[in-house]
Amino acid sequence: MTRVDRTQPIAVFDSGVGGLTVLHECLVWLPHEDFVYLGDTARFPYGGRDAADLRERSLAVARHLRDNGAKMIVVACNSATSAALPALRDELGESLAVVGTVEPAARLAAAATRSGRIGLLGTPATVASGAYERALSDVDLTSVACPKLAPLIQAGGELDARVVELEDEYCEPLIAAGVDTVILGCTHYPLVRAILQRALGRGVTIVSSGQAIADEVERQLSERDIENETDRRGSYRFACTGDEQEFRALAARSLQLPVERVDRVEIAERTSERRAA
Ligand code: DGL
Repeated sequence: MTRVDRTQPIAVFDSGVGGLTVLHECLVWLPHEDFVYLGDTARFPYGGRDAADLRERSLAVARHLRDNGAKMIVVACNSATSAALPALRDELGESLAVVGTVEPAARLAAAATRSGRIGLLGTPATVASGAYERALSDVDLTSVACPKLAPLIQAGGELDARVVELEDEYCEPLIAAGVDTVILGCTHYPLVRAILQRALGRGVTIVSSGQAIADEVERQLSERDIENETDRRGSYRFACTGDEQEFRALAARSLQLPVERVDRVEIAERTSERRAA
């Protein structure tokens, strides 16, 4: 088992800019830690991929992050978490903590609901996985797959009437089901939270996993005794597998913190290719 030490960075990954909503919370909550963010933009979107494909890709990305010195891996993507978290923990969990999105968001939603009727907005992959049904067995869950929403957000265009119309359409079944709490089951969706809240009405509590993940990261760091010194200011950096300029421009808008450099990295598709490399 590889030992990690407290000075190594925490790695956060997603298919695109959605995971920046998680990174944002981590940077605010744990300013003394170093972070590295990876956007697997060459493979975006994850939400339309099947579970086997997502497992294989998530493992390849996580191995890359481990081999590049991460002390913990945050899977800041619901599609990857839903398909791959057990496989990631099986393979890497002994040496590295692996934190996903589903458990923290489900916990928050269970605590927030009064009626026991919860809605889920997610990618087709997340909804099809049934991960939230498994995490929330005692509630009445209405799930809506939103195939067009993350691609629209990732495209980075203006938030116009088209976006509002699309979100109205996705929220409609949740309103019809009378939910009082809605889980944003895709890390891209907090970037359009205001439009969703207007569509759902102010009586509905919207839950996303960012802050809950930051708490979970802090808990795991302390449990494993690998927190960095708290009297320092940590650093953060970015990598992506697609176009780095495009990612930089999008990230700068989404993170609400400076985004300086973005490096482009190659991650081999298959395990055998990686091992041979
Ligand atoms: N942000 C991701 C999620 O939480 C994925 C969006 C996508 O790649 O389709 O599911």
